[in-house]
Amino acid sequence: MSASRTFRIAAIPADGVGKEVVAAGREVLDALAAGSGGAFAFDWHEFGWGCEHYARTGQMMAGDGLEVLRAFDAIYFGAVGWPGVPDHISLWGLRLAICQNFDLWANVRPVRFLPGVRSPLRRADDAELDWVVVRENSEGEYAGVGGRNFAARGARSEVAVQSAVFTEAGCERIMRFAFDLARTRARRKVSSVTKSNAQQYGMVMWDDVFKRVARDYPDVAADSVLVDAMAAKFVLHPEELSVVVASNLHADILSDLGSALAGSLGLAASANLNPERRFPSMFEPVHGSAPDIAGKGLANPIGAVGSAALMLGHLGLPDQATRLNTAIEATTAAGVLTRDLGGTATTRDVTKALTDALGT
Ligand SMILES: NC(=O)c1ccc[n+]([C@@H]2O[C@H](COP(=O)([O-])OP(=O)(O)OC[C@H]3O[C@@H](n4cnc5c(N)ncnc54)[C@H](O)[C@@H]3O)[C@@H](O)[C@H]2O)c1
Repeated sequence: MSASRTFRIAAIPADGVGKEVVAAGREVLDALAAGSGGAFAFDWHEFGWGCEHYARTGQMMAGDGLEVLRAFDAIYFGAVGWPGVPDHISLWGLRLAICQNFDLWANVRPVRFLPGVRSPLRRADDAELDWVVVRENSEGEYAGVGGRNFAARGARSEVAVQSAVFTEAGCERIMRFAFDLARTRARRKVSSVTKSNAQQYGMVMWDDVFKRVARDYPDVAADSVLVDAMAAKFVLHPEELSVVVASNLHADILSDLGSALAGSLGLAASANLNPERRFPSMFEPVHGSAPDIAGKGLANPIGAVGSAALMLGHLGLPDQATRLNTAIEATTAAGVLTRDLGGTATTRDVTKALTDALGT
């Protein structure tokens, strides 16, 4: 039977545990589709790009890679990076190449506390915690502007400049995205992360845009918090958070803190969105390629499966996204936990528990 909706998905497992968790995510998504009675299906195309491809060809992806990816409904990504290839080469050659060229300017990173998972946060026992980090994903500190020079002057005379780029349009679109997202949540609040006390140009403009945009959303509470204070707030008063909007670097760091507080980096999901849908959006776990555990079947696939749930939402299947998130909760609640969460389950065990929980 052919499915009434078939989604063409580009899978890029890339490196290390990326391969294991993408395989797990694909299996769970295919099980979901198989149980849909033909309502939808996935047409997967897997691309073997990453550090091994770089070792063979000197490039992280095929020369026409972006052109090829453009035709897909979405991209399902693993993780990039492997010892032997400098991290800035692997990151810029694949993940950032896709994010920047496809203008995937909104990076959504929910911080979810799951049943059966122990948080290092004492507060998690007595408060209902649930917040989402919205990361500006196209400019800021990761704009790639700068250079290294003067090495020719002799030993130890090199100078490096790494500039952050903030545009009013870039700040405004991510802040509006954050406020629109807050309107869909039980707690209508946006907290902006800043460092305008020390960074008097980019971050002061960031604050100005935030104040201006907030005026258009009188029904949404707004506050502005210095990044150092926000790091403390994540630990001490996380119950005050709902949507946290931050620059590329600040959100990158804070979202890792958030996922660690939820129990493990292996749990954290993310969506890199081009909200205008001019390009395919990309869905990936927050974690990296974890060379320390790669190839051992120990990787926690929940971050990748949670990212698949975000992809389902983006593809117009919100009920299926909810089913997948419910299966994740049933799996952790039943104590099927990988080693990073203090359990003994393998990637395979968790994948099987997830498909079983879907009832397929
Ligand atoms: N989005 C990405 O592709 C991305 C993100 C971060 C780092 N990286 C790259 O990954 C490589 C390793 O970086 P790192 O060690 O700083 O970060 P990492 O996220 O790979 O690993 C950090 C720690 O978390 C653990 N961990 C990560 N994912 C896990 C999972 N699914 N299950 C269980 N444990 C997990 C690892 O074992 C490790 O102890 C580097 O090359 C780095 O550049 C890529």
